[in-house]
Amino acid sequence: MMEEDAICAATTNIRDEGIDLTQISLRPISLDDVDDVMAWTTDEKVARYCTWEPYTSKEEGINFIQNIASKSLWFRAICLNDRVIGCIDLSSCEGQGRNRHKSAELGYALGTRYWGKGIATHVVKQVVKAAFTEFPHLERLQALVFLENVASQRVLHKAGFQREGVFRKYEFIKGKSRDMVCYSFLSDDCPT
Ligand SMILES: CC(C)(COP(=O)(O)OP(=O)(O)OC[C@H]1O[C@@H](n2cnc3c(N)ncnc32)[C@H](O)[C@@H]1OP(=O)(O)O)[C@@H](O)C(=O)NCCC(=O)NCCS
Repeated sequence: MMEEDAICAATTNIRDEGIDLTQISLRPISLDDVDDVMAWTTDEKVARYCTWEPYTSKEEGINFIQNIASKSLWFRAICLNDRVIGCIDLSSCEGQGRNRHKSAELGYALGTRYWGKGIATHVVKQVVKAAFTEFPHLERLQALVFLENVASQRVLHKAGFQREGVFRKYEFIKGKSRDMVCYSFLSDDCPT
């Protein structure tokens, strides 16, 4: 069976049907997941609004799996029936400047065949809760989103993030200065 067919079998007509969000789980990633990781990291549509270019070799997938945990404050694979369909991470803002150790930045990506089913919103809500529990020193989660990335802005809005504004030509990514929308969720925003 081809790899793509195997994912299809594991996720049964995902393109046409809604999805039972209880089948979505978050877990650490391992080298056994490399083929599933390649399915979405090689996709230009997934990479378009990310800082990375689509992968062109399996070595890049292996390198990602081997190094991502040490680069992130917190990283999880997003799984459907235990198959890796995306990822979500938090990175500390400490390295971005002085006095930012109480902030962390959220990032996520999902394979295109799973878009529009509420998966990212479901997972972001879980991660917000986990972040302030596992890292009690954190007071602020933020996400910087390409102005053109409407789907991601919608996810953050639905997950309770506040839109703070647009940082104009804020980051030079893929050969262009990009307008980035800044969203935040504060520990004080959590319902008690
Ligand atoms: C952003 C991303 C994670 C969203 O995942 P998802 O599981 O499809 O998100 P959800 O289904 O929870 O919500 C998406 C929302 O955006 C809406 N949406 C999607 N494309 C849209 C568009 N072009 N215009 C307006 N709304 C759009 C959907 O309708 C949905 O809103 P609704 O529930 O009110 O209908 C996914 O598109 C992705 O991986 N993109 C590539 C990587 C990326 O951009 N990562 C984020 C970097 S900050």
